[in-house]
Amino acid sequence: MQIARTIAEMKTFRMKSLGSVGFVPTMGYLHDGHLALVKQARAENSVVVASIFVNPTQFGPTEDFKTYPRDTERDLAMLRKERTDIVFMPTAEEMYPEGFNSWVEVEKVTDRLEGSYRPGHFKGVATVVVKLFNIVEPTRAYLGQKDAQQALVIKKMVADLNMNLEIIVAPTVRESDGLAMSSRNVYLKPQERQAATVLFKALTLARNLRGKGESNTETIRQEMTSLISKEPLAKIEYVSIADAETMEELTEIDKPVLASLAVRIGKTRLIDNVLVSG
Ligand code: PAJ
Repeated sequence: MQIARTIAEMKTFRMKSLGSVGFVPTMGYLHDGHLALVKQARAENSVVVASIFVNPTQFGPTEDFKTYPRDTERDLAMLRKERTDIVFMPTAEEMYPEGFNSWVEVEKVTDRLEGSYRPGHFKGVATVVVKLFNIVEPTRAYLGQKDAQQALVIKKMVADLNMNLEIIVAPTVRESDGLAMSSRNVYLKPQERQAATVLFKALTLARNLRGKGESNTETIRQEMTSLISKEPLAKIEYVSIADAETMEELTEIDKPVLASLAVRIGKTRLIDNVLVSG
């Protein structure tokens, strides 16, 4: 496994790569959700590139950039085991040198949900992802459904800007009790970890209500909200039933939709989603 710490090194490795390149961008502190993306990239490409970069521009001023979990040695061992060919791990100075002044803004789909609770977040994500795509020049990039809105924003950006790669979105990997794997789960104290199961419980409730024939989204949102409210450590930011393509809130379910939520468990902000059939 080769490690590129500079953009020039990464570009040299890329130039020497033959065949298709599968790319998995990450912020590190890897878990089985990330590794599922690497495994799929490994199965579908000649060369696998992963990046580890905690991107400062996608964190708000009051968010957890400084405390975001980091363990490079562990990450590299996990990537090596999955037969990753190249790991790109630049510094912030390498990615954002003094005088950096160009940004990518995807409009509309970034207005709601994560975009409205985390102003500037998707501008940071879109910008770093364009930079990573330009540096790595992947044939295919692998993203997780866990961050459904992020996947949508990146797909839209790739289409709008005629970028020359395929975006593949892979299913959310969960713990045995349903909690979606996330690097941020490490923040949870034991009691909070137990409380965090309420996210998937609420999403499962949405699926079950729909399964019983409920199509009114207000009713479903209320039921979800009431379930989460019973968990004293949980504080809801949003509960959404939206068009899975545009993220627009719906009043009636008449096609497959995305049920998603953001909930604070203590100080930790968690997000999750499931697709609900129409
Ligand atoms: P990070 O949170 O490290 O996630 C990297 C990739 O792993 C994303 O595509 C994310 O959706 C996916 N992922 C995370 N948890 C998952 C799970 N439980 N199951 C399946 N996939 C999962 O998302 C980012 O980093 C950053 O915003 C990034 C795209 C790297 C840009 O900085």
